[in-house]
Amino acid sequence: MARVFITGSSDGLGRMAAQLLVEQGHSVVLHTRSQQRAKEALSFVPGAESAVVGDLASIAQTRSVAEQVNALGSFDAVIHNAGVGYRESRRIATEDGLPHVFAVNTLAPYILTALIERPKRLVYLSSGLHQSGDASLKDLAWERRAWQGLQAYSDTKLHDVFLAFAIARRWPDVLSNALEPGWVATKMGGAGAPDDLDAGYRTQVWLAVSDDPAATVTGEYFYHMRRRRPSPATRDTDRQEMLLAACAQFSGVKLPNR
Ligand SMILES: NC(=O)c1ccc[n+]([C@@H]2O[C@H](COP(=O)([O-])OP(=O)(O)OC[C@H]3O[C@@H](n4cnc5c(N)ncnc54)[C@H](OP(=O)(O)O)[C@@H]3O)[C@@H](O)[C@H]2O)c1
Repeated sequence: MARVFITGSSDGLGRMAAQLLVEQGHSVVLHTRSQQRAKEALSFVPGAESAVVGDLASIAQTRSVAEQVNALGSFDAVIHNAGVGYRESRRIATEDGLPHVFAVNTLAPYILTALIERPKRLVYLSSGLHQSGDASLKDLAWERRAWQGLQAYSDTKLHDVFLAFAIARRWPDVLSNALEPGWVATKMGGAGAPDDLDAGYRTQVWLAVSDDPAATVTGEYFYHMRRRRPSPATRDTDRQEMLLAACAQFSGVKLPNR
């Protein structure tokens, strides 16, 4: 049985993945943005080991999340699931001066990847919208571009694939993959979302714990437990490195080399 940490497990796909993992007999540590949300999450996922707390929009709190996780010991898998959507109608600046969606969706998984003791598997939640993300990686902080919420979200979901593939290349002893869950009916997806919710969260669970040879690969992109071709730009190692360097610059956190 595996020990798994899931970010953003107070709701949506993260919470459903946590419930399934517990049902399967795995040990699960949840993550929520506040103590109140932690209490709620633990009541929704009875059997979860514990919950760590921190707002991923804040670099300081994200660092604290990594410290809390490390204090709990080692993990077999970390699922970078937490995310905010595409409906921010203006550039909301975090306490660090960054766009909120970039801080939560891109920088936080980078910081947690760098600071959490290395697990055996890493899973990153992307989206089909990554295909329209800006692979130039210019103006990541949206200081020169006119704000477009959907574009900002799509950019971050492209970053998540860059991150998964960069880690797969840099850390050959870790299985690091990305997935798109489909457009599904969560708080983010909205009630009318058309895709299969069940397949959405099962894929992240499968990548985190399954011994299926199809799941024990690295540097791949999935949709509903099948490989899918990601944007060709995500295979560009120079771009991957460019994103890592930018994240190191924004956060002050360096990614260990190997
Ligand atoms: N739903 C879709 O159609 C869809 C499609 C493609 C990709 N995805 C991806 O799937 C992942 C999960 O999405 P979902 O649909 O399950 O969304 P959701 O229902 O809105 O849940 C998102 C989770 O992330 C947490 N979170 C958000 N901002 C946070 C912050 N600043 N600090 C800590 N936790 C934070 C939320 O906490 P609270 O409960 O406190 O808000 C919640 O637990 C995301 O990465 C998303 O981009 C979803």
